Amino acid sequence: MKFITVKTYEELSKKAADIIAAQIILKNDCVLGLATGSSPVGTYKNLIKKVENGEISFKNVTSVNLDEYVGLDGSHDQSYRYFMNDNLFDHVDIDKSKTYVPNGCAADLKKEGEAYDELIKSLGGIDLQLLGIGLDGHIGFNEPDDFFTAATHSVTLDPSTIEANSRFFASKDDVPKSAITMGMMSIMQAKRILMVANGKAKLDIIKKAMEGPVDPRVPASILQLHPDVTVICSEN
Ligand code: GLP
Repeated sequence: MKFITVKTYEELSKKAADIIAAQIILKNDCVLGLATGSSPVGTYKNLIKKVENGEISFKNVTSVNLDEYVGLDGSHDQSYRYFMNDNLFDHVDIDKSKTYVPNGCAADLKKEGEAYDELIKSLGGIDLQLLGIGLDGHIGFNEPDDFFTAATHSVTLDPSTIEANSRFFASKDDVPKSAITMGMMSIMQAKRILMVANGKAKLDIIKKAMEGPVDPRVPASILQLHPDVTVICSEN
């Protein structure tokens, strides 16, 4: 595991974008696992700049996102599909039909999960998975539990996650209570993993996840079993 600590969010975003750009340059038809939350927003801004400057192209890239709120369709401004369009896809030359986000409005979430895992398999897996980390150690929406879940599955969100994510909604009551998330298998089978964590508040959980025992109560701790993880944290 490689740790990069930087002073500012700007540095974090630039470094993360440089790593993703390198992946695209090395394999222009790569599969990127993408993430939402506030931490990757600056990374996406830097990637957009790189496309505008002609440094990289998303023309042949496929993306699979980690998760989606249950009950929000892509037109809802807090859905993760909307977030991805707004923060990245609408501004780069990606073929939108090759951008995948789990469907949080699927009638049968179990089937949706199975289909999502099949899709990732059919794409040959993920070349680079971008991750954030929740204050409770969640990755994607894999919340603390008694066990790690391998498959894409629906989850009940932890009260602390609902609280943390309520900053994006009009009120706490508007935050969906459940989500569908890629499970640990697809995440851990990614060839490389890049985690971005913005701000002092995340430093404790990162230390616990990366230096403590591998424990499903700290979901990100499973990353200790992956051979190629880079974590970029900003101090401010
Ligand atoms: C959400 C997402 C996670 C993300 C987390 C942290 O809960 N499902 O994938 O890592 O937020 O977000 P932030 O970077 O805003 O703290």
